[in-house]
Amino acid sequence: MDRFRYQNGELYCEDVPAAQIAARAGTPVYVYSAATLRHHYRAIAEAFAPLNPLLCFAVKSLDNTHILRLLAEAGSGFDVVSGGEIARALRAGTDPAKIVYSGVAKTDREIREAVSVGIKMFNVESEAEFENLSRLGGEAGRPVRASLRINPDVYDPRTHVKTATGRKESKFGVDIDRAEVFFQTYGRDANVALDALDLHIGSPIYSAEPYVRAIDRTLALIESLRAKGFAIRTLDLGGGFAADYEEGRSPLAADYAGQIVPMLKDSGLEIILEPGRQIACNAGVLLTRVQYVKQGGSKKFLIVDAAMTDLIRPALYDSEHFVWPAKLPAGAEPPPRRISHAAEGGVPVDVVGGVCESSDFLAKGRTLPPMERGDLLTVFSAGAYGFVMSSQYNSRPRAAEVLVEGDAWRVIRRRETYDDLFAAECDV
Ligand SMILES: Cc1ncc(COP(=O)(O)O)c(C=O)c1O
Repeated sequence: MDRFRYQNGELYCEDVPAAQIAARAGTPVYVYSAATLRHHYRAIAEAFAPLNPLLCFAVKSLDNTHILRLLAEAGSGFDVVSGGEIARALRAGTDPAKIVYSGVAKTDREIREAVSVGIKMFNVESEAEFENLSRLGGEAGRPVRASLRINPDVYDPRTHVKTATGRKESKFGVDIDRAEVFFQTYGRDANVALDALDLHIGSPIYSAEPYVRAIDRTLALIESLRAKGFAIRTLDLGGGFAADYEEGRSPLAADYAGQIVPMLKDSGLEIILEPGRQIACNAGVLLTRVQYVKQGGSKKFLIVDAAMTDLIRPALYDSEHFVWPAKLPAGAEPPPRRISHAAEGGVPVDVVGGVCESSDFLAKGRTLPPMERGDLLTVFSAGAYGFVMSSQYNSRPRAAEVLVEGDAWRVIRRRETYDDLFAAECDV
């Protein structure tokens, strides 16, 4: 699952005690394990090897340039959704021919930049966007390739309503029933080669079954398009593979591949995958210190120095992260990573931050070992959609990010300062 383990009662990331990082880098701090990132990347690459896919890590899930460089060195391409993400991927040294660009609101500037660096493919999300891409591609006089993002109207009922995307009534992509007309209208465009399809049915998807249904519908569409003379060369399956927020809860890459590979092995299609969460989620934790312990009516609060500004997933999606002290009480066993796991003799607490919003919490109703001011708490499985969604709301400087490799660690994004709060303001 990952390389965060308790040894002699203390949490380690690979071979480094978490307490050492917190003492030197301060808190709150995101800590990433390089070995875990590589492990999950390789697990997907190996499971899908019979399809020889291009893995395009979803930059939105964890966008630190050092992490992107590590993944690029492992062979990854990148799925991006903005000009800024393209800039990051290029800064990380990636080959532009391994970048695919999704997103419903690509601006002229972003499209021009992407065309000029020669990305692999635009994942087009509407008729209006295709027309604009064609206009700008014509102006640039360079080859432009596009895939049509379709909504196969498939979803996983366990995916949170705010992260389900593959349905008809979605702002993303176009309804699969409109795809043939789309190709008839734009499939022979002079400026843009439209010869691919892509989909992203949501995130996280907790079984292979929704992919199977989506691929089934998509293969039927491809056959029909081919019969009408539209050669479809590439199929991008998007992201969405689940990650273990609790131990053993999610399928492994091999479980998804077991059902997906046989469906596509003889399709003659180039396959692209855009995993984010399954690579990044368990590769990162958020370390935070208890500031105060407080009783509020019948409730007990652990007030910590991280907040929704550092990790917004609980407030935004009702997400549940396993939390536990970085140092175990004397003689205590390492806990199983189960949200419901209760420490013997503990009382339920809500873990909250210092932001002036009632929705500012990191965990609710958890029975943790007794904790005091100054103790270090670990929020597990925070690598994906963690730091990337952080903000400076309440003028809180963002946390630092640290990367661990074996017994070495380094700060890969320094903690922000008050000066960073004013940096983009004019004349202050
Ligand atoms: C188009 C697209 N691709 C890939 C992803 C990555 O999803 P995940 O991190 O669940 O793999 C997303 C996530 O929202 C997405 O919108």
